[in-house]
Amino acid sequence: MSLKLPSTRRFVLMGLAFATIGGGLSIYLDGPWVIVVLFGLVMTMLLSAVLQKEHDLIVAIDEHTQAKQEYRAMVGQLPIGLFAIRGGKVLFTNENWTKSHGDEEGGLFERLNALDREQLVVALERAESDLLPFSMTLRANAIVGTVHYEAYGSPVTDSEGKLRHVLVFCVDVTPFVKAKNEVSRKHREVDEKNYQLNAALRQVERSLETMVVTMVRAVEVKDPYTAGHSSRVRQYSVWIGEQLGLSPYELRILSYGALIHDVGKIGIPDDILLKPSMLSPMEYEVIKLHTIHGANIVADIDFFRDCVPIVRWHHERLDGSGYPDALVGDDIPFLARVVAVTDVFDAMTSNRSYRQPVSCKEALEIMSQDVASGRLDAIAFDALRSVVAERGMIPQIDGEVDRRAA
Ligand SMILES: [Fe+2]
Repeated sequence: MSLKLPSTRRFVLMGLAFATIGGGLSIYLDGPWVIVVLFGLVMTMLLSAVLQKEHDLIVAIDEHTQAKQEYRAMVGQLPIGLFAIRGGKVLFTNENWTKSHGDEEGGLFERLNALDREQLVVALERAESDLLPFSMTLRANAIVGTVHYEAYGSPVTDSEGKLRHVLVFCVDVTPFVKAKNEVSRKHREVDEKNYQLNAALRQVERSLETMVVTMVRAVEVKDPYTAGHSSRVRQYSVWIGEQLGLSPYELRILSYGALIHDVGKIGIPDDILLKPSMLSPMEYEVIKLHTIHGANIVADIDFFRDCVPIVRWHHERLDGSGYPDALVGDDIPFLARVVAVTDVFDAMTSNRSYRQPVSCKEALEIMSQDVASGRLDAIAFDALRSVVAERGMIPQIDGEVDRRAA
């Protein structure tokens, strides 16, 4: 709205007009000129004051109207849905909300998901009665499909604290919900794939376990001592691994490696492997080859490739006196050192065809000397002593026959 302000020239003209009228009256009434001039000035000032008041009022109304229009335009164009409601009656909706859901009474509630509608009604009633704000998720049917909103309701009160209406802001979060649902769907797909992979892995592990047992039994046929010995070495080794806090992967390698550590005996001629009397130096050299035979067998099986160090080096000693490679100190992998300790312990405490087994205490005392002289690993030995004290020795199965302490 525009307004034409009263100009100074208009005031002057009006003043002259009043002065002329006053002058005419003065001549007609035969009065003094000064009264005529004063009359014109006073009338001009009074009229100017009245017009100024009117002008100020019109300007104020104009600014208020403009502000109201700008506010409505701003609210209408907000990128959120906005409506005011009281007693279930929609009092106001902004343009954004009207475009999506109309402004007819009840239109909002008819479009809402039934469950969300019930929760919204409860929240609105509580906001009106207790003047409490609320927030909730709403799902509404729209032309483009289901629209998801994050709704925030806030009671609006007058200066006396009485409720005027509840103002509800609705932010369209449909893209985020769709993205979230898509991520969830992908997660479910990944979980399903993982489940299938784990099932396949379990199947592979069962097959490998069967293969390991078959390999060990093949050795057992040649040397009945080895089967019981390998199982006990496996159990002692796993106990030590658990005692030392090895990872699940290390424990698995240790478990399989210990079980098959003597699998290379399958390549040793029976007349040497089963010889009841003392071996000649040359025969002993042949027996030593079981570490290399075993490593070669295991290296050809992917799953057991990490077990190769245990199989090849379980007879190595830290001072370099072992075989087949005379490794020294840290060159011997730790898992191989663990099996070296458990292998010696079980060999000493098992029946021999040429001697009686030593007691657990005696075996540990003899082994402690090997630790002190730098042949066996101290950490693995201390762990063995601990687990044997805690769990006891694994009993030897009746009927096991020691053919050779390898
Ligand atoms: Fe061995």
